[in-house]
Amino acid sequence: MDLIVQPQRAPLRGIVPVPADKSITHRAILFAALADGTSRVVAESAGEDNRSTLAAIRALGVEAEVGASEMTISGRGLEGLREPAAPLDCGNSGTTMRLFAGVLAAQRFRSVLVGDESLSKRPMARVATPLRLRGARIEGRLDPKRPGDLTAPLEIGPLPAPHVLSEISYDLPIPTAQVKSALLLSGLWAAGATSVSEPLVSRDHTERMLSSLGVPIERVGSVVALDPAAFSGRLPAFEIRVPGDPSAAAFLVAAALLVPGSEVGVRSVGLNPTRTGFFDLVRLMGGQLAAQAHGDEVGEPFGEIAARHGGLVAVSAGGETVVRAIDEIPVLCALAARARGTTIIADARELRVKESDRIAAMATVLRAFGVTCEEQPDGMVIEGTPEGPLRAATVDAAGDHRIAMSAALLGLVADGESRVAGADSIATSFPRFAGTLRALGADVRAVGSG
Ligand code: S3P
Repeated sequence: MDLIVQPQRAPLRGIVPVPADKSITHRAILFAALADGTSRVVAESAGEDNRSTLAAIRALGVEAEVGASEMTISGRGLEGLREPAAPLDCGNSGTTMRLFAGVLAAQRFRSVLVGDESLSKRPMARVATPLRLRGARIEGRLDPKRPGDLTAPLEIGPLPAPHVLSEISYDLPIPTAQVKSALLLSGLWAAGATSVSEPLVSRDHTERMLSSLGVPIERVGSVVALDPAAFSGRLPAFEIRVPGDPSAAAFLVAAALLVPGSEVGVRSVGLNPTRTGFFDLVRLMGGQLAAQAHGDEVGEPFGEIAARHGGLVAVSAGGETVVRAIDEIPVLCALAARARGTTIIADARELRVKESDRIAAMATVLRAFGVTCEEQPDGMVIEGTPEGPLRAATVDAAGDHRIAMSAALLGLVADGESRVAGADSIATSFPRFAGTLRALGADVRAVGSG
């Protein structure tokens, strides 16, 4: 599927929903599978990545009824997962693969995790190494591109009885919520404590949700610890209405900031501070953005946001803000293209190993739209041009949902029709992206490739 985007001549206006937060939905599905009893997960418009997690729990013997926007999951308890009959297909979802690696490392059966072409190239030693240190068996393929690294397929377990995973105190070399979560989850079955320290705090959904389910999790600064001695050994069934995804909302905020006269609101967006780095950067750029907290859902704050068009200035982004905005750096690049001055993005080396090499992919997209930019090993330098339209372009989405959506936004401020080729991956996180932009007044159409 390609997206055809026309230059936007009228303001974008409206209040629209976004899909349920992808990170929280993965965890809700997985924790419901491990809980005792029936849980209800309301997740509006969840994308294909979350379906991969759902398919994985089903393949592990967990029953789930799936409606249009909610799932009823019959948890089998911590000791109830069954050996899967076939490899578990994680699709494009790194979170599915790495979180399940933690859970499966503690099981008495063998399982294999596979993924699509993009996921099969992503680094997995980061999760295998600490799990092996606590006694797990994990084998992967030697990474042909990064010596010493591993890639999927991952063959995990069995953990032979009476052996159990040992305690661990592990310093993550990079902030990564997926690996932190894998270690904490494996810790539910371990003989001793799990302590994970990160150089900067990554998203903390696992900690928040496990804590609200009664798991003893302690956090001091950037160290998180789980002590199974104080754990009942059971997760209670629960209900969650998953807040909207701030990573999806970022594209709508950016659309409003890019198109003159626009005013866009998003209902029910997660406002967990470990996820709001993009909103903070937007404010530093002079973007008009209001957020109003409404409440809390299984430990996750949420509220409404509203963005209004106004002139943007360049920003220097690095350090902890970049960790809190890691998935929004591509869309930040789109804003930087229209901000007055030179935007510098640093400390974002992790972007090289996301669904695509997002630094290289965004540099290619920006240049196609006539934007001057320079790639750095850990980021990018972008010269903004606030005046006049960008040059309309045909670009390739690099099989990456966030590159596809960022490129589509640039098309809104170009001087003619633009095409984003290979935009199918948008369905992994924001299936109704084009429809939502149309509801705001944009002319964005999906057409067959070609
Ligand atoms: C995620 C963690 C982040 C993020 C990804 C989702 C999660 O990845 O980029 O989109 O749900 O835990 P890393 O753990 O690799 O930083």
